[in-house]
Amino acid sequence: MSAAAPQAKVRVAVIGAGLMGREVASAFGRWFSLLDCPVAPELCGVCDVNPAALDWFRQVPSIRHFDTDHRTLLARPDIDVVYVAVPHDLHEALYLDVLRSGKDLFAEKPFGVDLGAARRIRDEASRLGRFVRVSSEFPFLPGARRAFRMASSGDLGRLIEVRSAFLHSSDLDPSKPINWKRRSAQCGEAGVMNDLGLHVAHLPLRLGWRPSHLHAQLQKIYTTRPDGKGGTAACDTWDNAVLHTTVPIGGEPVPMTLEMKRMAPTETNTWIFEALGTDMGVRYSTKEPKTFWTFRRGKEQTWEKTDLAAGLAKAGK
Ligand SMILES: NC(=O)c1ccc[n+]([C@@H]2O[C@H](COP(=O)([O-])OP(=O)(O)OC[C@H]3O[C@@H](n4cnc5c(N)ncnc54)[C@H](O)[C@@H]3O)[C@@H](O)[C@H]2O)c1
Repeated sequence: MSAAAPQAKVRVAVIGAGLMGREVASAFGRWFSLLDCPVAPELCGVCDVNPAALDWFRQVPSIRHFDTDHRTLLARPDIDVVYVAVPHDLHEALYLDVLRSGKDLFAEKPFGVDLGAARRIRDEASRLGRFVRVSSEFPFLPGARRAFRMASSGDLGRLIEVRSAFLHSSDLDPSKPINWKRRSAQCGEAGVMNDLGLHVAHLPLRLGWRPSHLHAQLQKIYTTRPDGKGGTAACDTWDNAVLHTTVPIGGEPVPMTLEMKRMAPTETNTWIFEALGTDMGVRYSTKEPKTFWTFRRGKEQTWEKTDLAAGLAKAGK
């Protein structure tokens, strides 16, 4: 194995030491396993309004700043990039504070709690010339990448229909206590679409498939939940959303369904992408992460199952 090329060090701090703050710290911890990556993040700071949330990060040897006010963290000169993972209603204020502090921004979805906030963040980032990214990780899985390549190749023929979905089921438990993601005031009026929409829209948008028409079916299924203190609280976000859209592809109107659901029985973080054409079709679901399905029109119509791991082994990767 050849020696890795030298990597430029990027000093990163995290604002929001919750689920995703811990997740990104774990990803940085495994960074050395990436090949041919020109940069190496060094996690050097963390900030949360809840001091107890900082404790988990004390096991990360590279962290030297533990703050409870994000302005203190942003004033520190030895930080290049800030990852922000806080409730959605705080995204605009904190993202703008990061950009104005002169640091680059690794943002979380949604990019602002609503369209107005998203535009204000985008405009300030381009006015200041800062580097900003927000992303969904699912399109980078091998099966999703293959689906993207095939869908963009033109080999599918005339597209008949497209389905993109992200499905959860843990909210089916009515005893699950409420949290900020189930409150419109903090999650945003778009509810589950704010939470899961980027995962569903990412691949279609990268393919250039922008809906021209849209019909939404939105559901609020449980309207109350335990408040975690022995009482009950209003749960006012949309739980499930199905968007029936029309996308102009190759000059033809193609039906595309975007599904974002917190109550989809048996589904646990399932990301699905399917595009059916007159000549070929592709189907990939994280429920079967190594399995890639290809439909080919021939004398007989068949779905072909490809084991992605076997394919990688054959290629010597
Ligand atoms: N990319 C993904 O797959 C994915 C998955 C889950 C969540 N998310 C996104 O990550 C973000 C955070 O979600 P989470 O699940 O980590 O939430 P979480 O509730 O687990 O953590 C949020 C943290 O932010 C802290 N916080 C609140 N206000 C703050 C402030 N002013 N300054 C500093 N810290 C503050 C809270 O104390 C909490 O510890 C959201 O935007 C969410 O949509 C992304």
